[in-house]
Amino acid sequence: MSTPPVPGSPDRATPLSPAAQPERLAALVAAVRARTDLVPRVGLVLGSGLGGLADGIEDSVAIPFEAMPGWPGATAPGHAGRVLLGGLGGVPVVAFQGRFHLYEGHEPGLVVQPALLCRQLGATAVVLTNAAGGVNPSFGPGTLMAITDHLNLTGRTPLAGPNADGLGPRFADLTDAWTPRLREHLHAAADAEGVALADGVYVGLLGPNFETPAEVRMLRTLGADAVGMSTVLEAIAARWVGLEVCGVSLVTNAGAGYTGQPLTHEEVLAVGEEAGPRLARVLRRFVAGL
Ligand code: HPA
Repeated sequence: MSTPPVPGSPDRATPLSPAAQPERLAALVAAVRARTDLVPRVGLVLGSGLGGLADGIEDSVAIPFEAMPGWPGATAPGHAGRVLLGGLGGVPVVAFQGRFHLYEGHEPGLVVQPALLCRQLGATAVVLTNAAGGVNPSFGPGTLMAITDHLNLTGRTPLAGPNADGLGPRFADLTDAWTPRLREHLHAAADAEGVALADGVYVGLLGPNFETPAEVRMLRTLGADAVGMSTVLEAIAARWVGLEVCGVSLVTNAGAGYTGQPLTHEEVLAVGEEAGPRLARVLRRFVAGL
């Protein structure tokens, strides 16, 4: 027998089909609109150790995740768990300091709500950032990688179950999931800031354990350049609702087995702190030039 949910507590694990999203999103939009009428052009999801990018957002309204209907607080270390609405480089944005992960026990439908909310608030594009392990042996700690495509190896999708035809089609096209036009803008911004930006394929796994060395070798064989525990479901949902998508992985460590050293989340956060300001410069210029 399953334990009944505690009344009023966020419901982490009830499957949330696409058809259930419109009502949930309406409540989320209402919570935001009770606090600000800012209409973002771009949404930014800030991953592990990268929440500091939000420091540059001007005149921001900050909403803790717990104040958003149905959202639990962020539990992952390095995730503040706030929604910010304000200006970045003069452009109205919504930024999420932290996100929901499958490995926290969350359903795909919750994991993708920040991305879906971007669309509902008026944004036309979303930038997904994350910390990742280097699968490409030439990607050492501190490498910034523009995501060209992804492999969804989580075994989950946010689009299973009855569809919400008003939000997106039953069969989402992912041919150009990672919008080439936006990636060109990212590279132009990185060049202008003198910041090196590689290109590569991101593979999303369930986590929360890091990979085995054999898995990292397998992921390389499959065509991955960086591995992480987020991002792919958000990209699918964002494309489903017609958002343009781009993303940057910060490689915080060489993939398991490449150095013989154990992997730790502290290392992930430390490299995030070091490289965060570099990525912040690129993203500020990117957003300003959109
Ligand atoms: N694997 C998976 N996720 C990660 C890693 C890794 O090596 N580093 C940071 N996030």
